[in-house]
Amino acid sequence: MQMPNLLEAKKRTKIEPKTIDYNLKEEYKSLGKNKTYYIKTYGCQMNEHDTENIKAILEQMSFKETDIMENADLILLNTCAIRENAHNKVFGMVGRIKHLKESRPNIIVGMCGCMVQEEVIAEEIKNKYKWLDIVFGTHNINELPQILAKNSKNKSLELEVYSIEGDIIENMPAKRDSKYKAWVNIMYGCDKFCTYCIVPYTRGKQRSRTKENIINEVKELIKDGYKEVTLLGQNVNAYGKDLDVNYDMSDLLEETAQTGIERVRFITSHPWDFTDKMIKVIAKYPNVMPYIHLPLQSGSNKILKLMGRRYTKEEYITLYNKIKEIIPNCAITTDIIVGFPGETEEDFKDTLDVVNTCKYDSAFTFIFSPREGTPAAKMKDETSLEIKEQRLYKLNDLINSYARKANEKYQDQIVPVLLENTSEKNEEMLMGYTDTMKLVNVKASKELIGKIVDVKITNVKTWSMDGEIIN
Ligand code: SAH
Ligand code: SF4
Ligand code: F3S
Repeated sequence: MQMPNLLEAKKRTKIEPKTIDYNLKEEYKSLGKNKTYYIKTYGCQMNEHDTENIKAILEQMSFKETDIMENADLILLNTCAIRENAHNKVFGMVGRIKHLKESRPNIIVGMCGCMVQEEVIAEEIKNKYKWLDIVFGTHNINELPQILAKNSKNKSLELEVYSIEGDIIENMPAKRDSKYKAWVNIMYGCDKFCTYCIVPYTRGKQRSRTKENIINEVKELIKDGYKEVTLLGQNVNAYGKDLDVNYDMSDLLEETAQTGIERVRFITSHPWDFTDKMIKVIAKYPNVMPYIHLPLQSGSNKILKLMGRRYTKEEYITLYNKIKEIIPNCAITTDIIVGFPGETEEDFKDTLDVVNTCKYDSAFTFIFSPREGTPAAKMKDETSLEIKEQRLYKLNDLINSYARKANEKYQDQIVPVLLENTSEKNEEMLMGYTDTMKLVNVKASKELIGKIVDVKITNVKTWSMDGEIIN
């Protein structure tokens, strides 16, 4: 058993991360024969992509995927720790699965992802959820085969969670959700330590992959018919800062664009590391999409300081204006937290102020959730939940009104859309995204799935648009 440890998770030493080549041992290749697996994924794109790796590993072990949890022989929850409600959702699900396990004791039930990297959660599992079979963290997805094999031999809980700065695992297989869009990790972990955030503890030290490995992955994806890649990291603008090379995010973005892939995106951009060179590269290459997710978190300088974000409201707005000036059609979205400890009505007004200035295309908004072990969890918080909720509703109303206005500009415009799939609500329609990341539903034949087509927007709503294909 290997338990996570908060103090270890915080450490940042100069020790170079190891690069480990994933390789499945022969003895594990038939461990999942005649068995099915079901994975439920919570959290961000990082976790979604980890799930794609986990699925491929399981399939190399001969497991087959099922989308009916009740029938599966192996059930895995890939968890998120970012806010308290993530915790409640996961343990609600664990309760449901316990009933299944009571009627089918042979099923294997596991948890992985960010939540189990938390010391308190791992303790809770060890004490109250001993009936679980496997628990592994974000640093050792590659060890899943061994962990499953040990559990199958010992028939007891295998809990293996490391609090280490982390290695880089290359050559993990991926069973991607889409045949046209792919996530490409460019870095792991985060060193920013924003005072509210658990990610630096659950994901470890910032580790950038080499540009060679990234560009090779993109080239392979092109060969496999992929149209779009999203360069993925908690803080992509800091790419390369941990490597001893004179090569940064703007260089990587440029080189990715030069591979000729039809669409390049990146997420998430911390405003602090956003260079002018980056803006120029986005403007220069038509295949770098004019869409930037630029988390604000708060519009109050006092709160930004308490959050450890290292930029001011003014610096954020200057960056925003610069982007809009050089890339006028750029869509910008954001993340905002309300009810951070010490946030007064004045501070909240500052946030509304920035929203009124930036008129975002859309935003994810959250009520501050204290995460054990982070500095903000210890800060004095005197605002009632009721007031925080009122702030959230008010903010959401404002965000929605700008989202609607941003969409209205698209009425009757012709825009490129990568058609991805049939629409969820209507089988006759296809869905896809514009270059600016607007969701569009189009009446079109299924043969067009996977193509980038010109669409005329015929109807706009707050969160999506309808359009028709232009021939
Ligand atoms: N790396 C990204 C953010 C990843 S987490 C960045 O720095 O921009 C996604 C979002 O969750 C954050 O932008 C923040 O708005 C929100 N979030 C993170 N920790 C939170 C907490 N403790 N309470 C509420 N929201 C939080
Ligand atoms: Fe969390 Fe800040 Fe890192 Fe984003 S940059 S993952 S908010 S610590
Ligand atoms: Fe959640 Fe971990 Fe992502 S905490 S938001 S799954 S990095």
